[in-house]
Amino acid sequence: MNEGEFGFETRAIHAGQAPDASTGAVVTPIYQTSTYAQAEVGVHQGYEYSRTANPTRTALERCLASLEGASSGFAFASGMAAEDAVLRLLPKDSHVVIPDDAYGGTYRLVSKVFGPAGLQYSVADLTDPASLQAAWRPSTRLLWVESPTNPLLGVVDIAAVARFARERGARCVVDNTFATPYLQQPLALGADIVVHSTTKYLGGHSDVVGGFVAVNDVDVAAHIAYLQNAVGAVPGPLDCFLVLRGVKTLAVRMDRHCANAAAVVAMLERHPAVDNVRYPGLPTHPGHETADRQMRGFGGMVAFTVAGGEDAALELVSSTKLFTLAESLGAVESLIEHPARMTHLSVAGSALAVDPALVRLSVGIETADDLVDDLRRALDGI
Ligand SMILES: Cc1ncc(COP(=O)(O)O)c(C=O)c1O
Repeated sequence: MNEGEFGFETRAIHAGQAPDASTGAVVTPIYQTSTYAQAEVGVHQGYEYSRTANPTRTALERCLASLEGASSGFAFASGMAAEDAVLRLLPKDSHVVIPDDAYGGTYRLVSKVFGPAGLQYSVADLTDPASLQAAWRPSTRLLWVESPTNPLLGVVDIAAVARFARERGARCVVDNTFATPYLQQPLALGADIVVHSTTKYLGGHSDVVGGFVAVNDVDVAAHIAYLQNAVGAVPGPLDCFLVLRGVKTLAVRMDRHCANAAAVVAMLERHPAVDNVRYPGLPTHPGHETADRQMRGFGGMVAFTVAGGEDAALELVSSTKLFTLAESLGAVESLIEHPARMTHLSVAGSALAVDPALVRLSVGIETADDLVDDLRRALDGI
């Protein structure tokens, strides 16, 4: 297909997924094979060994690259494996700037895995140009961006910080997991690299773990392709199939996630047991104008502090019936969690530690009234 002609929803269903040439199968098959027959040495149909390339993975990579407006895309076994590949691009003794409310796993990877191997890092509030400037060093090669951030739903002006990095000879990578390419396209805003945990909205059904990297620069693409094969943290064909299937409904799911989150936020804003609601769609959110400019909708993630502090927050997260107490996010079912003791435990005691009164919601696509009633009942009870 000539992808430039088609809209997002069409590409989500068809890009990289022409009917199977040998059988006509409309759905890309799960090519559950590790190796491929060669007619003579080196003569094959583009596939030699499934760590290097597999047709189900190729379909997923082409589809997601198309959705991100990228020329190349690479699927990984998890979001962390995708992040690992991006950090391995850096030359020895590089410095990286990471956001002060980065996903805990990103902070752990940078500080505990790459740090001991020589990577330097500084933490900055990317919503504040002075903080970014102060964190910058002559050796800074990479600016790591999340927007909206996990778990505080901060909004970073991607075009502005990507320009800042570019002017100083560094690359800008955006973790687009929370927004998805349906709501936000970082490469079009000037970023160099996009990473995803496809475990979340792209898969969308809490049944697969995966990651993805999208780039436009051919040299960076060649380097990531090399690392993907050399390190080997690749997803199996069934996992690629599950993400491909999830992505077909991404647009309709995201519209409903956004609408349901707005309904939940409206209730939380009025509830006396709730202190401070964080949602980029709220006009009072400090990043609201930026989010409105760079996003198509405000997403399905909501965070808030509970007036009664940590004990009340812990009681709340175990009292909802529809919102399941669980880590992760971005799937059809609604989840609730306590970041300080769950997803962000790895940053406890660091500059990135989160308020123990904070609760994070991943608002699913159930009936909005049911979700609002479930949360209201649980809040009334604490
Ligand atoms: C924003 C963000 N980035 C990256 C990751 C890591 O992804 P994975 O769990 O697929 O390794 C997560 C996981 O929660 C995340 O929330």
